[in-house]
Amino acid sequence: MMTFELDILRQKSAQDVPYRQSFMFETDDENAAVSTALTALNARSVLTDKNGEKALPISWECSCLQKKCGACAMVINGVPGLACDSKLSGLGRVITVEPLRKFPVIADLTVDRRAMFDALREMSVWAENAVAPSERTQDISYEASGCLQCGCCLEVCPNFYAGGSFAGMAGGVPLSRLIEQLSGEERRAVMKEYRRRVYEGCGKSLACRKICPAGLDIEKLMVNSNGAAAWKSLFRRKR
Ligand code: SF4
Ligand code: SF4
Ligand code: FES
Repeated sequence: MMTFELDILRQKSAQDVPYRQSFMFETDDENAAVSTALTALNARSVLTDKNGEKALPISWECSCLQKKCGACAMVINGVPGLACDSKLSGLGRVITVEPLRKFPVIADLTVDRRAMFDALREMSVWAENAVAPSERTQDISYEASGCLQCGCCLEVCPNFYAGGSFAGMAGGVPLSRLIEQLSGEERRAVMKEYRRRVYEGCGKSLACRKICPAGLDIEKLMVNSNGAAAWKSLFRRKR
């Protein structure tokens, strides 16, 4: 049997002061993840913390529990990731669990990621018409289509803040897909949006390079889109 202590940063509501509360969790399942522990803790008839004090259920979001929806993104041992993809056995005996900090907290580990979804809507990151795959573009567009919109890349980005015009790579990745898939006037419009909402605000620090829980090669997508939407356009303008 393995015993873990989950040290959770809690907050009753957006208006309340955050506090820490620790919970003990035992399991013999080597595949148990942070999501397993949170689900089991909330399923207890009476939830008590490490000191035996009665505690409120822990607020957090999930949907697929299969690394497919991005809903369970949170900061685990100081690193943004998916609760359903973070095995307890690799995290040490005491595990810190905190909400994403770039978005307003609704309660405990549940945050309001509306700013990210609003940016996607404003940028119209969905093609109006069906796009036929082509051999030239399928690698990049297939990779970019794996974005879960979890927001983990925004968490580590020094230039992103909720409500700002910079959309970060959570916006840049879906635009990368459209840049590859579209042509003509539609493509030019997407490249303009990419320049304005991603390229111009990005400090190129590459802090987001290895953070993606979906395993997307963010650097490759960024280099490809920067090349298409920014460098080529600057070069064309100078000639
Ligand atoms: S390269 Fe740096 S500034 Fe640009 S999106 Fe990634 S983390 Fe943010
Ligand atoms: S690029 Fe990766 S880290 Fe960023 S929102 Fe998409 S899936 Fe999440
Ligand atoms: S619950 Fe869907 S990615 Fe974790």
